[in-house]
Amino acid sequence: MILDPVQLADQTPLLNSKTRWVYEHPDSPDLLIKVHMPRYPGLAQAGMSRWFAQRKDHFLYTTGIMRELKQFVESRYQGPEGYCYPEILPHIEPVYGVVETDIGLGLLVSAARDSDGNLAPSVLRLRKRGAMSAKRYTQLDRMLQALLDTPLMIGDLNQENIVLKNAGRADEHFVLIDGLGERTWIPTQTLLGWVNRRRKRAFVATMRKRLQGDRNG
Ligand SMILES: Nc1ncnc2c1ncn2[C@@H]1O[C@H](COP(=O)(O)OP(=O)(O)O)[C@@H](O)[C@H]1O
Ligand SMILES: [Mg+2]
Repeated sequence: MILDPVQLADQTPLLNSKTRWVYEHPDSPDLLIKVHMPRYPGLAQAGMSRWFAQRKDHFLYTTGIMRELKQFVESRYQGPEGYCYPEILPHIEPVYGVVETDIGLGLLVSAARDSDGNLAPSVLRLRKRGAMSAKRYTQLDRMLQALLDTPLMIGDLNQENIVLKNAGRADEHFVLIDGLGERTWIPTQTLLGWVNRRRKRAFVATMRKRLQGDRNG
């Protein structure tokens, strides 16, 4: 049955990520499933540190799913004139929802790949390989500007959360595959628009400085 839990226990994750296991969907290479990686440092202890460890793990589990989904939904909002943020649409890789798996609830997302069918290379990887052409720098900068021009919330804009989809093809373009939404226990970005804008500007400034450094050096 299409809605039966997806069997992942006998599969190897595609890569060792920091917070989630990333699997290819057994039925389609176009889909990835991200499953929360439980971390319980402190659970061996009693009292407060045990309580905190459990709360933290629970927080990472729920936000890992909800924040991405929420921002994806926001990015596709349409007003009377159509999409509100058309420039950013192609840069947010789709999040399709949640799926049950035999190792826990998973986030079902579109897989960004390169022209050979491998997972699309991250900005960090492209920079390390010296594969950031002038055209790619310009494309990335445009995407960063588009992000600044929308109210979408960014919790973590690092170089591994942006990948070059269709790399090597004429239609290659950068997409965000993680880092959307707020990550802190106290949702200051949600509560205060200016905190969100400031945080986003800081992320973009750091990224632009790095890219500028490459081009000068
Ligand atoms: N939709 C995707 N398409 C292609 N590669 C992806 C996708 N999602 C994740 N990846 C790859 O997996 C890595 C880890 O996934 P990510 O969602 O960023 O996990 P983490 O929460 O550990 O940072 C990314 O840096 C990227 O290289
Ligand atoms: Mg990431």
